[in-house]
Amino acid sequence: MNRKYRKVIIAGNWKMNKLASDVRPFLQELRGAMPKAKTCDTVICAPAVLATSITRTMRDTRIVCGAQDVSEHDFGAYTGEISASMLADIEVRYCIVGHSERRQYHNETDFQVSAKVKKLLSAGVTPIICVGESLLQREYGLTFDYVTYQTKAALSGLEAKDVRKCVIAYEPIWAIGTGKTATAIQAQEVCAKIRTVIRDNFDARTARSVSILYGGSMNSKNCAELLAQPDIDGGLIGGSSLDPAELAKIIESTVDFE
Ligand code: 13P
Repeated sequence: MNRKYRKVIIAGNWKMNKLASDVRPFLQELRGAMPKAKTCDTVICAPAVLATSITRTMRDTRIVCGAQDVSEHDFGAYTGEISASMLADIEVRYCIVGHSERRQYHNETDFQVSAKVKKLLSAGVTPIICVGESLLQREYGLTFDYVTYQTKAALSGLEAKDVRKCVIAYEPIWAIGTGKTATAIQAQEVCAKIRTVIRDNFDARTARSVSILYGGSMNSKNCAELLAQPDIDGGLIGGSSLDPAELAKIIESTVDFE
């Protein structure tokens, strides 16, 4: 990480876990266990039905609420969808876009990811854009090609000043929920590649200022080595974000890096 140029972000992705009754006890425990000084931006990306409860409970704290998906449309007859302005209206500050589970189970395309990024930016919500290769793509030596393609597609049509408002999360699909983490070297080389793609398609200042997170079986034991890498500016954490004590330890580990 490099605090001089970019934000350090620890974002939990609760996925489809937890109930409204879990929110208050979770946040109380998390706040109690977090370091006193602000060491990073802390985000809880929760199911949309919990967002209001989270934003209310966390008002005036250092924790902000994120969402896990958004509609590519502004408003209208799109049953089941939630728009970017609805998220902004209830003080959701971040939103995951293009998570591999959305791409895999809901056939979300790069075109839709790009449309969602634009909607979030116009509503003032920070997109956390997920990219990452499958095991087969890695074995075929296609990791850099595929991640480059996904990054370019998600950022296409944006101006550099908008790209500077985005966060990218590198989440190798084979590391998600498997307990198999990318090594710090593997994660660093892909995150560095993503930064190069941003530099080549926008400019050096933009590349320097975009926070790039790692996600995939990150926990309190492996986070320090990952976060020590120069191009990894935080984590997008699934399983380990469901336990407040574990998440607090990951937040605490960001203290050690300048
Ligand atoms: P795990 O931390 O459970 O592997 O999930 C990672 C992830 O998908 C975060 O978005």
